[in-house]
Amino acid sequence: MKEIDRVIDAADGFHQCWYPLALADDVSGEMPLGIDVLGTRVVVYRDATGTPVIQTAWCPHLGADLARGELIERQLRCPYHHWRFDRNGRCIDIPTGDKIPPGARIFTFPAAEAWGLVWAFNGRAPLFAPPRIPGIEESELVIHTQARPARRLPPWVGVSNGVDFQHLRALHNLQTSTPETIDVGDHAIEFRMETERYLQHGRITGTNVFAQHLHRDGSNVYMLFAGMPVDRHQSRGFFTVGVRNSGDDAEARHRDAMRLEGARRFVEQLLAEDDPVLNTMRFKIGVLTASDRHLARYFKYVAEFPRAEAPA
Ligand code: FES
Ligand SMILES: [Fe+2]
Repeated sequence: MKEIDRVIDAADGFHQCWYPLALADDVSGEMPLGIDVLGTRVVVYRDATGTPVIQTAWCPHLGADLARGELIERQLRCPYHHWRFDRNGRCIDIPTGDKIPPGARIFTFPAAEAWGLVWAFNGRAPLFAPPRIPGIEESELVIHTQARPARRLPPWVGVSNGVDFQHLRALHNLQTSTPETIDVGDHAIEFRMETERYLQHGRITGTNVFAQHLHRDGSNVYMLFAGMPVDRHQSRGFFTVGVRNSGDDAEARHRDAMRLEGARRFVEQLLAEDDPVLNTMRFKIGVLTASDRHLARYFKYVAEFPRAEAPA
């Protein structure tokens, strides 16, 4: 599969996805946060309305790292010569009083906040909406979100777990089957398996997010796994786990917190089972069998997914 090798190399840029950059709680209006992503570096902060702003970290003057700068009135100020940039990336102040050149701009990524994370879209305009967990709105859940250690694999390899039904039984010992069909769109894949006692409703968004609603042993768990490429060799990730919010009184909050903790432990266990394999494998698309048909379809979807270099 030649084209898959090309995807692994990311020779033509990175997939045009919504990438999680940071925990929403770590993004403030006090200090810019620097993140290495997509083979480049960005700054993340909150503007005067609290909305996340994601911009190229390299100053257009001499290339200083703007993440080393400061937020002055919620505007990014370069640490080197104190040029200041607004939330649209326009330079609005050069302290010497020099005329501001038209090229004194930094790129502003499409940004979103969801599932306890701040996301950037790799492109000038998003090709699709930010990732969802199937069957639920964020407002209906209590969630817990946390960062994961780095991996030496592109995010789409980890996400292939979502349609690798063989490994769900073998590695994770889940009592699940394989869906007849998976629904492949341009920018998402969805499937649903339902028996009387078990429901698995999964969704891949882009090539870097797998989310699912799992109903088993009488309980509902919602989860989302999201990765972002640091560069061509390394990725970082996050996961979110959620349970339905059952009320606002103290008793309900306590009950939800206990259920959330149980759900978090379940997800941690899945990840602990995956990690020794994913962190040591030399990934390739090798000999596939009939049981791998959805996985094979996913690899085709990945190969065809739009790509772009991170805008500079
Ligand atoms: S390098 Fe940023 S203002 Fe000079
Ligand atoms: Fe897995």
